[in-house]
Amino acid sequence: FSKVDLLIVGAGFYGATIAERVANELQKNVLLIDRRSHIGGNAYSEFDGETGIEVHRYGAHLFHTPNEVVWTYLNRFTAFTDYKHRVYSTYRDQVYSMPINLGTISQFFNQRLSPADAKALIAEQAAEMAGRHPANLEEKAISLIGRPLYEAFIRGYTAKQWQTDPRDLPEHIITRLPVRYTFDNRYFNDRYEGLPVDGYTAIFERMLKHPKIQIALGVDFFSLKSSLPAGLPIVYTGPIDRYFDYSEGELGWRTIDFEKETLSTGDFQGTAVMNYADETIPYTRILEFRHFNPERSYQNEKTVVVREYSRSAKRADEPYYPIDTRQDKDVFLRYRERAEAEANVHFGGRLGTYRYLDMHQAIGAALKAFDSRIAPHFTEGRAIG
Ligand code: FDA
Repeated sequence: FSKVDLLIVGAGFYGATIAERVANELQKNVLLIDRRSHIGGNAYSEFDGETGIEVHRYGAHLFHTPNEVVWTYLNRFTAFTDYKHRVYSTYRDQVYSMPINLGTISQFFNQRLSPADAKALIAEQAAEMAGRHPANLEEKAISLIGRPLYEAFIRGYTAKQWQTDPRDLPEHIITRLPVRYTFDNRYFNDRYEGLPVDGYTAIFERMLKHPKIQIALGVDFFSLKSSLPAGLPIVYTGPIDRYFDYSEGELGWRTIDFEKETLSTGDFQGTAVMNYADETIPYTRILEFRHFNPERSYQNEKTVVVREYSRSAKRADEPYYPIDTRQDKDVFLRYRERAEAEANVHFGGRLGTYRYLDMHQAIGAALKAFDSRIAPHFTEGRAIG
């Protein structure tokens, strides 16, 4: 470690952005480690050997951002396709477009509705909750979109996501349910959207290709922590509760089990993401990866699909979405206090801050942290943590 100026734990977007900035802007030596066998964190993707289709190993990753700084930064390492994400949902053998929009509402109620008609209809259906404070997720959803749409598109899907009856889930899990009173069925509203032309992993390869960045894969931080020189500055993007050996308690996460299958057909479902709203179907959605890149040509009539099953994570599982109950919030605050006392460690990224972050938010947060904490540490001798 004698030549290492900064140790970064985790080669996802947060760690990779800091590594790139420190090497290029400050010419400092970075050691970037990850316990996985690849760079990219959860945004990692690989080209399937049999079909040549790019598969996102940790679930569908769609890049979108309203943030021009992040967009300009990332465009230094990749060009983007003009892919625009759209999601469909199967319910009782019919297919509807998501998020709920005028097309969904007209189809569901089997009526031609103007935007004003649709608004009035939903308001009338939501009125059953008027004057009452919602006591659980179900009541909250009904107060937002009325019972019929809730029962079709939210109830079964949510029950599968949480493995819990929505009447037993707290109302604060949802603050809003987007309903569009237009036929616009683009999933994201952001100004910038697209998928990386050469795939996600190529972005990381380009970000990290620098003589001052050394990468060590298959290395767990906790197996080398005790041998680190005292005071070595560290950027830690692993789980914050693990860092403190779970001493304040374990933070709750949901995970996803992915069931991958290669099928002998050129097209299985005609779109990239199909949700399944019925509770009788055990998976929440099916991804078909070739549809993310319609601009690519494939050699054979085969397709790769992945079914997703959602459940709460145990310690050995991949943590994906923070559950963030009130108890989790209290536990996290205790860890955050302890993290603030670690002068040589900067905690970042979605695992280090116990927050769901989209990719652009992870990159944006890393760029900000570089300016406010990491660079001042090297240029002015300030604490990194
Ligand atoms: P990330 O998890 O990527 O990286 C952390 C790294 O730290 C991991 O590689 C891990 O192995 C490593 N690590 C942890 N502990 C360690 C230890 N002890 N020693 C060494 N290494 C250790 N975003 C978006 O914009 N659009 C999308 O469509 C999606 N879709 C999506 C689907 C699913 C299922 C999930 C879970 C997430 C998304 N995301 C997303 C979010 C996206 O994955 C997220 O923004 C980035 O992964 C955040 O990057 P980080 O670097 O913070 O974490």
